[in-house]
Amino acid sequence: MTDDIATLTDAPPRPAIEHALAGWARASAPSELREILPLLARPGLLSFALGMPAADLLPAEAYLRATRRALEADPLPMQYGVPFEPLKRHIVGMMAERGVHCREEQIFLTTGAQQGMSLLARLLLDEGGQVAVEATVYDGIHGAVKPLRPEVLTVPSDEGGIRVDALEAMLEGGARPAFVYLIPEGHNPLGVSLGMERRLRLVELARRFHLPLVEDDAYGFLRYDGERVPALRALDEDWVLYVGSFSKILAPGLRVGWLVVPEALVPTLSILKHGSDLDVTSVAQRCLSSYLDSGELPAHLERLRTAYRSRRDVMLDALERHFPRAVRWTAPAGGMFVWVSLPDGVDTVRLLRRAVATEQVAFVPGAAFCAHDAGDYAHCMRLCFTSLPIDKIEEGVARLGRLLTDEVRVGPLTLVSPD
Ligand SMILES: Cc1ncc(COP(=O)(O)O)c(C=O)c1O
Repeated sequence: MTDDIATLTDAPPRPAIEHALAGWARASAPSELREILPLLARPGLLSFALGMPAADLLPAEAYLRATRRALEADPLPMQYGVPFEPLKRHIVGMMAERGVHCREEQIFLTTGAQQGMSLLARLLLDEGGQVAVEATVYDGIHGAVKPLRPEVLTVPSDEGGIRVDALEAMLEGGARPAFVYLIPEGHNPLGVSLGMERRLRLVELARRFHLPLVEDDAYGFLRYDGERVPALRALDEDWVLYVGSFSKILAPGLRVGWLVVPEALVPTLSILKHGSDLDVTSVAQRCLSSYLDSGELPAHLERLRTAYRSRRDVMLDALERHFPRAVRWTAPAGGMFVWVSLPDGVDTVRLLRRAVATEQVAFVPGAAFCAHDAGDYAHCMRLCFTSLPIDKIEEGVARLGRLLTDEVRVGPLTLVSPD
């Protein structure tokens, strides 16, 4: 058991070729999130760690039918291909639900949102330039910018999301990031959605400082309640570069995402993309388009939203009942994550090891999401509420609650006990 847990920190021996690697590669270490993966295969483990869609809600049957239709009708998906126009047309239609009016010429297909982020980073950021991200944010953005060895400027967030006043002060102080990376809807990992006022202020800053906003809307179609606000891209066509994905709303295994960008940027994005993978797989483009032709996506999305809303509510209720009172958490209106803050002084990396070893339950420690100052978030954890069925959510939170209560007795934690 402890051997598995050691994989969290044990790196393979450095190879002889290491000296030949590019500077950024020599300096880079695998992300903590990626290293957690081997731990999660353990039978019986209840994992709140990865941002997985519910396996029981993946539309496998409908997708199989769509695949058969696509491949029987036309052998072309098996060939090299150009971006599939009917798929772009579907995406234009979907964007209207996010308040965005765009044209097919502004859609650029990508191999998932992650590739979209990487392409935009390479489009906007000069080597060694500045980039601005929130102090706690999806670690994929760090991977996307790392080869360009940027100066990463961090902007604080509060319960309303990114502190736009702090970003403004940074810009007024002379910082000139190549772009700001934002997750306005269902933030990963903080679980917040930006209100309209902050969105408008962000767009105003973008125009005033000629600052591109990279809007990662991976969770934009997963809003469960609260005021529905448009995507940032709906508020500005010039400065907002939109990143979308089918991963969280259909299936991450498809590896299909998209960008919405000014049309003039598309040829340069094509050069960048062709340099790494030529194209999104033609098979995925055609089969996905065939699935969307069937008109089944809206009902599927509704099913997801209903199920995820219930799972979120069950998790929030279970946290209330099983966690000690000094613990705080966010109540997300969208997305997949609850962000939990334990009292200062708790080290959630250490806690994870105990959680896996003694209670067979996993989460992601807060430190995994920090560009700098991981210590500031060492007492936090991210819980994903979508991947486990309802009874397992209840059970997993109870296990974690037991562990935390036990920490009060034997560990370094000093918690206020419930009255
Ligand atoms: C905010 C955010 N952006 C992008 C991604 C990656 O999405 P994709 O699977 O489309 O590459 C994730 C995955 O967890 C995410 O949380």
